[in-house]
Amino acid sequence: MATALSRIDRPKQLAETQCRVALVGFGTVGSAVARLLNSRRHEHSLRLTHVCNRNVARKKASWIGPEVRWTESIQQILDSDADVIVELIGGVEPAHELVRGALQRRKAVVTANKQLIARFGSELLRLAHENQQYLGFGACVAGGVPVLSGLHDGLAADRIVQIRGILNGTCNYILTRIEQAGISFDAALHEAQQKGFAEADPADDIDGQDAAAKLAILARVGLKLDVSPRQVVCRSIRNIRSLDFEYARDLGCTVRQISTAKLHDGRVYLAVEPSLVPNDSPLARVVGSQNLVVSSGEFGGDTTFGGHGAGGDPTAVAVVSDLLQAARGRRRGVELPGRVSASSCEFTTDQEAPHYLRFVVRDRPGIIAALAGAFGSHHINLDAVLQKPGHSKSELPFVITLEPCRQAQLDAALAKIAKLDFLIEAPMTMPILR
Ligand SMILES: NC(=O)c1ccc[n+]([C@@H]2O[C@H](COP(=O)([O-])OP(=O)(O)OC[C@H]3O[C@@H](n4cnc5c(N)ncnc54)[C@H](OP(=O)(O)O)[C@@H]3O)[C@@H](O)[C@H]2O)c1
Repeated sequence: MATALSRIDRPKQLAETQCRVALVGFGTVGSAVARLLNSRRHEHSLRLTHVCNRNVARKKASWIGPEVRWTESIQQILDSDADVIVELIGGVEPAHELVRGALQRRKAVVTANKQLIARFGSELLRLAHENQQYLGFGACVAGGVPVLSGLHDGLAADRIVQIRGILNGTCNYILTRIEQAGISFDAALHEAQQKGFAEADPADDIDGQDAAAKLAILARVGLKLDVSPRQVVCRSIRNIRSLDFEYARDLGCTVRQISTAKLHDGRVYLAVEPSLVPNDSPLARVVGSQNLVVSSGEFGGDTTFGGHGAGGDPTAVAVVSDLLQAARGRRRGVELPGRVSASSCEFTTDQEAPHYLRFVVRDRPGIIAALAGAFGSHHINLDAVLQKPGHSKSELPFVITLEPCRQAQLDAALAKIAKLDFLIEAPMTMPILR
């Protein structure tokens, strides 16, 4: 009898302990999250109760049970009995108002929206703290790779001094294709667009703004700094040619878009830029649209996080992992990743590094001497000069590598070099990672 009763009561008991989840945005990630919740693997703690999307009728999926309410009204979601709202519409508005409204109504929030957290992270985390609600954003950086929870929880005891990563799958795909097929940047971009790895307007990816938003979030969680994406130096990968990979190979390196947040002498350097990466670095082995982050701790040294940086299913795993954290938070009290006290750190754009420079010139005697003179006048030492045969003298490419110098020294020397009459185009410069 007792057994029969407990069986009858089970759904009711379960419903009382489950965290009610409202999903806003039923696109690539939203539908993958619903599918993961529908698999019942997490039914002990999570129950999908609402799905919201504009023009919702065309989104209704027969595999979602009749108990789930479909709506196109965000207000209805805010007024609902959901315990946690998952924001997966992307963009800044109305996502910002939705997340604010949810936290003010004392609902937990999970989001995959990097623009939102990079721009409004401080404000939203403060609101979450004031209302004692969980705000999860693990899916904002590196999709399915648990790098934010790794930095926040797994490495909590260390003091992270540097985070370096490949955070943009589109750039990595394009650079890998130039490297493997010897094609031009434009051809690699076109191929990436055809295969769905690049947007019709790829500027945010290839010029670095997408990775800058992710880097700002990484710096917040890992370096405990209140950083805006505007403070990240961004350099584009548009000028990378297959020739750069040939020279990089001669130097024991490859080329990747590298995001760096580095603390040194009380200053922080933040940059997203194409860089020469030594072949023995784990960053050099990242191919296609994969992501990889290497954090360096004062005590624990280097830790590497890698995997699928995008895609519905990997990102859904990150979202649902945050939902499980939100459900645990309801029982044990909320802990917020990414809450930082006001930043006491100075920002610097002047990083010391060895550099790679590719010149294209109209050949004539005295070119190397003129360049060496310009570098020498700013106390920069040449390391090597590399020139491949077979190019026209009227448009001759060659490469100079420089010993470590500060960015300000390099910029001053390049300003002098820009006035030299043999240059056909501005030199392409990249730091060489050490
Ligand atoms: N896709 C990935 O691999 C990935 C990885 C990491 C993070 N993210 C982030 O996850 C979020 C969602 O990305 P996604 O790829 O799933 O985008 P998506 O496929 O475009 O899905 C967005 C969904 O939200 C709906 N929507 C947009 N604005 C709305 C509004 N004002 N009210 C109601 N519904 C609205 C869209 O409806 P329509 O169908 O009418 O457009 C669409 O169904 C973004 O913040 C993105 O940056 C995505």
